[in-house]
Amino acid sequence: MQLIFATHNQNKFNEVQKLLPAHIHLVSLTDIGCMEDIPETGNTLEENARLKADYVAKNYNLPCFADDTGLLVDALNGAPGVRSARYAGDRKSADANMEKLLFELKGRTDRSAKFKTIIALHLNNGCQFFEGTVQGEITLRQAGKGGFGYDPIFRPDGHLETFAELPIGAKNKISHRGKAIEQLVQYLKTKT
Ligand code: IMP
Repeated sequence: MQLIFATHNQNKFNEVQKLLPAHIHLVSLTDIGCMEDIPETGNTLEENARLKADYVAKNYNLPCFADDTGLLVDALNGAPGVRSARYAGDRKSADANMEKLLFELKGRTDRSAKFKTIIALHLNNGCQFFEGTVQGEITLRQAGKGGFGYDPIFRPDGHLETFAELPIGAKNKISHRGKAIEQLVQYLKTKT
């Protein structure tokens, strides 16, 4: 079965590809010739995931899913949340985003946070949502070279390493996206 993952983010694509069973052939936006930066103008992760999945379903009429992820920091009342990609501005720079977050948390003892992923799936008709979260804390400084985005400053509960220090397989097992994809896979089993 062919399934489009509506993302231009190669890191995300690689993570998700490793989580899907062999009979699901994952296809990227680039593979279908879609170079559009699909606008994420929603106020929630659900809305943004849906916007991206709707765009592909409408323009390409193929089975597809999209994800949207936010980092929710307790001491900042859930910020950056749905604004995680543009926290430090429209450049969407991972380094600038992390620096801003570390600055905002300077001197704070409560550094608890969670990643939350929402997946929106268009299969035949209608849209199905799946959710995954992982609890952890924001470290004092960046550590690790793997992963992407905020990974160098997020340490999942029960681990001594940040996501950027863990091998991709270890991150996938416990991550927000890994959990949401697991639900997606279970759902697809009942439908295909
Ligand atoms: P989006 O889902 O691509 O819109 O991601 C929102 C923001 O969260 C971006 O800044 C991403 O780099 C970041 N992000 C998404 N997934 C992850 C992850 O698994 N680890 C670290 N940062 C992530």
